[in-house]
Amino acid sequence: MDHFHYTGGALHAEDVAIAEVATAVGTPFYVYSTATLTRHFQIFDEALDGLDHLVCYAMKANSNLAVLKVLAGLGAGMDVVSGGEYLRAKAAGVPGEKIVFSGIGKTEEEMVLAIEGGIRQFNVESEPELLLLSEVANRLGKTVPITVRVNPDVDAKTHAKIATGKSENKFGIPISRARAVYAQAASLPGIRVVGIDVHIGSQLTELEPYRSAFEKVAELTHVLRADGHEIRRLDLGGGLGIPYQHSNQAPPLPFDYGEVVRSTVGDLGCEIEIEPGRLIAGNAGLMVSRVIYVKEGEGRRFLILDGAMNDLIRPAMYDAWHDIIPVREPEPGAEPVQYDIVGPVCESGDTFAKERAMPEVGAGELVAFRSAGAYGAVMASEYNSRPLIPEVLVDRDQFAVVRARPTFDEMLSRDIIPEWMD
Ligand code: LLP
Repeated sequence: MDHFHYTGGALHAEDVAIAEVATAVGTPFYVYSTATLTRHFQIFDEALDGLDHLVCYAMKANSNLAVLKVLAGLGAGMDVVSGGEYLRAKAAGVPGEKIVFSGIGKTEEEMVLAIEGGIRQFNVESEPELLLLSEVANRLGKTVPITVRVNPDVDAKTHAKIATGKSENKFGIPISRARAVYAQAASLPGIRVVGIDVHIGSQLTELEPYRSAFEKVAELTHVLRADGHEIRRLDLGGGLGIPYQHSNQAPPLPFDYGEVVRSTVGDLGCEIEIEPGRLIAGNAGLMVSRVIYVKEGEGRRFLILDGAMNDLIRPAMYDAWHDIIPVREPEPGAEPVQYDIVGPVCESGDTFAKERAMPEVGAGELVAFRSAGAYGAVMASEYNSRPLIPEVLVDRDQFAVVRARPTFDEMLSRDIIPEWMD
């Protein structure tokens, strides 16, 4: 459930009319709903009720400071994958002991930053990373908590670009090598083993892959404990999918996911961490865009928007579907029209949808992309010298710009002409 709805013939985010935001900030823009973010976080939290747990929001999905502050205020931990994300988590007021650091390419600088600033744990993904972390921690006179991310060789049955739990993927260490790597970790100075980490992919629409992966983690917990390691924490990653096509998709609910967690690893006496990103932020955001032209092609009608692939890259990158709806509520029973919905960027890949049936809209009208709160603004670029679009946060009847559109002067001022050209 989200808090975007038609009221009085016009699309609203909570109690704010989208058209009003468009007039105030210009198009295109992203808009997020505080109530929806809150609800999604709480649903996860409740799904793990009765287990000692921490929901560490995977902020790669949407790392706007205001969004982070909403979640931090609810008690969320954060899953970060870069020094920049670590600094954002800290800036949003999240204490180090609630921040986990994931990712396969942590640099020495990032390790120093997180060790000095405080960290709940590093999720280590390789032996060379383990050695470097030991060296850095030791040099700083600290002992850092770690889990090792194991790759369970499970097919997450999701888009190839976002599956991470198969042995051919670059993530984690093969589960077959886990005992050797844990033995090595236990022998290294500056390292304290606290648990196991696993993450098998993103936009999962079935629970079975989770069950297989968590069963393997449970088995490994027993083996590692028998080897003398203290396994008191399990980080189970993120990845639960959301409906992108609202009319006919119903991915598993967090409650049922919670049941899988309980039935596979619930009796191990471990603290449970999960790292959802998309399910918290995805349906809490829209991208709103204006129709520039309606162009008649050969047997096709193009809806040319002012939003483009640089603003929302998911359709171009993953062939992702986003529901696209008019901001003015369509008349009941209005016949849908077929459009190819495209942006102004100069490549054919800048296509949001082909032969998409939707209510008729005209030039100058607004449309909204649903499910754009995750992996939308964070993946945007300034391709074609198009400024990053603003982000707006709504809370009941108030809204605020939480990241402003840069001016062209700001964009130009980042480029530097070398002295020899003067
Ligand atoms: N934990 C780890 C270690 C991850 O790599 C990810 C996502 C998550 C948690 C959060 O997964 P989520 O709950 O959001 O599915 N840009 C792609 C998605 C990339 C996901 C990368 N890792 C997209 O737009 O679909």
